[in-house]
Amino acid sequence: MIRVRNPGRLNVGILASGRGSNFEAIADAIERGDLNAEIKLIISDKEDALVLKKGAKRKIPVLCVKPGDFSDAAVYERALIAAFRSAEAELVALAGYMRLIGDEFINAFPYCIVNIHPALLPSFRGLNAQRQALEAGVRFSGCTVHIVDRGMDTGPIILQAAVPVCGDDDEESLSNRILEEEHKIYWRALRLYCEGRLYVEEKKVLISEEKDRRK
Ligand code: GAR
Repeated sequence: MIRVRNPGRLNVGILASGRGSNFEAIADAIERGDLNAEIKLIISDKEDALVLKKGAKRKIPVLCVKPGDFSDAAVYERALIAAFRSAEAELVALAGYMRLIGDEFINAFPYCIVNIHPALLPSFRGLNAQRQALEAGVRFSGCTVHIVDRGMDTGPIILQAAVPVCGDDDEESLSNRILEEEHKIYWRALRLYCEGRLYVEEKKVLISEEKDRRK
């Protein structure tokens, strides 16, 4: 069993492609004093991503790194790694980042790349998770914060929150209900890192009390 991190202030890097509401929820938690962390850098692969504007407004360093400017995905990701390292980020939080992460990136931040996904994994991986849930006719869906591994939305699960799926839901109403929960659990998952309470055993995350109960 691996303890992921010792307690202490956490330097966070954000990687995002769009609107940035999850970034804002994390930044708000830091401002309120609920999360002992600092956002050192926000990177987006999209020039016009709202997250860059939102970050700059809060005086957080922002950077656009476009995959198309590099010869291949590995070279692109090396630029991301270098930028996060020089900003002294210890953990990279994917916040609406719509690309798979390669081996070199994963190895550069062992157990310290996390993602939020708008479904109760392992159901509905990949794109349009809310639409997948509606099409499957599930009664509950939700969101998941997990450690990123080599698969698509397959890594060890840290926290989840469930919401009901209502008969008259469309993609937008369900997405909004899920998003409210995303904003509650992402920073709480990061707080577990700050508290040094996360342990990984093969494919599973244990939070310290769960680990102690096993003794
Ligand atoms: C969120 O719903 C997040 O769960 C989803 O993108 C949205 C980003 O919103 N991520 C994925 O689907 C990743 N597979 P935001 O930019 O407002 O945080």
